[in-house]
Amino acid sequence: MPNLKITETSLRDGHQSLIATRLTTDEILPILSEMDKAGFYSMEVWGGATFDTCLRFLNEDPWERLRKIRANVKNTKLQMLSRGQNLLGYKNYPDDIVEKFLKNAIYEGIDIIRIFDALNDFRNLRKSIEVVKEEGAHCQCAISYTTSPAHTTEYYLQLIKNFENAGADTICIKDMSGILLPYEAYDLVKAIKKITKLPLEFHTHCTSGIAQMTMLKTIEAGIDIVDTSISPLSSGTSQPATESLALSLKETQWDPELDLSSLNNIADYFKKVMKNYQDNGTYNMKVLMTEPKTLQYQIPGGMLSNMIFQMKALNANDKFEDVLKEVPKVREDLGFPPLVTPMSQMIGAQAVFNVISGERYKIIPTEIKNYVKGLYGKSAAPISDEIKNIIIGDEKVITVRPADLLNDEFEQLKDEVGDLAQSEQDVLSYALFPQVSKDFFEKRKAMSVNVVQI
Ligand code: CO
Repeated sequence: MPNLKITETSLRDGHQSLIATRLTTDEILPILSEMDKAGFYSMEVWGGATFDTCLRFLNEDPWERLRKIRANVKNTKLQMLSRGQNLLGYKNYPDDIVEKFLKNAIYEGIDIIRIFDALNDFRNLRKSIEVVKEEGAHCQCAISYTTSPAHTTEYYLQLIKNFENAGADTICIKDMSGILLPYEAYDLVKAIKKITKLPLEFHTHCTSGIAQMTMLKTIEAGIDIVDTSISPLSSGTSQPATESLALSLKETQWDPELDLSSLNNIADYFKKVMKNYQDNGTYNMKVLMTEPKTLQYQIPGGMLSNMIFQMKALNANDKFEDVLKEVPKVREDLGFPPLVTPMSQMIGAQAVFNVISGERYKIIPTEIKNYVKGLYGKSAAPISDEIKNIIIGDEKVITVRPADLLNDEFEQLKDEVGDLAQSEQDVLSYALFPQVSKDFFEKRKAMSVNVVQI
């Protein structure tokens, strides 16, 4: 293996960042054997929003997608992204669901599971780490990178120590908003390398226009693995382009030794696919515009486009700048949570409400109340009593791991969904996205009846 390894993200983060995760399995399959030849260390192909999108918009079984990908990728490690106790959904699931879900993902061929928690609350990762280790898969623990007075280098190093003690195989600096500056990245990688021998990976987004510079500095500082995406699915709100990095490092000590003709074939294939998405409007060129304001507001690409959409729906486009300014204030009020799913959506919605209603915290979504009650985990900085009082009155804040309050629910969900579910995996889909999965199962049933009649 070369000194610098590449995780190719096209099939997960690439299309999630640029075309709302709309690549279909039929579009993915024809290029897999070529991707398998390119020399990537791993391919991120599952998790994140891919699961939800398969069921909700593509009428596809995400488990089936994974099986098909595995069948076509024989040499390269397959990687997925999981949000700790939230798995691929948007709330905390009980331990039995986390356990069965990860076991099934590993059984179907996932080699590496990148686990993170939106709040960097280590307690929310504990169960996932335990399961991944037990199953003999590769456990990568990610820090959700953000900046705030509470997010010091010391803070991250402590977190990494916890990961290492819990048995992490590798560590990832996950810069979901693309805000890690080149020289800070250099120092951070050096500092991490001093306290751990675990291989270190860097994940970022090009949103603010600094990703390639930062990536190069992490490489100079000794990073082991970086995340890139094939050119047609790169840049903008996505990752730096795989080929550009490979060419930049050719014949240096960090040459990732990728097969350049393979990369060209993959790029040619995805150029055609992306042209279709451009033509049908799914691929909006806006996502490719460099937005240095991200560095000021620390708003990830996906959140930015969500907020633009929300403001449009509310007919309040003129207040967009006000909302952008409100986001960091809400964030400070709430103890500086990193802006990553689901916190990014929650903070975004609260900021929109604060501006639109004309009075701060006049409207408070239930999720924000639950967050302040501690049901998502602990924030990096404490939330002031004043803000607590405004948001939850005299309701109590929990001090235990949030999932400790949840009872196992697999058996109950299995009964609830009945014969619509044909497998344990169906029940797990149902556990994460009940209504969406039920709709999918019903459509699937109707289709199979039609097939039999023909
Ligand atoms: Co990402």
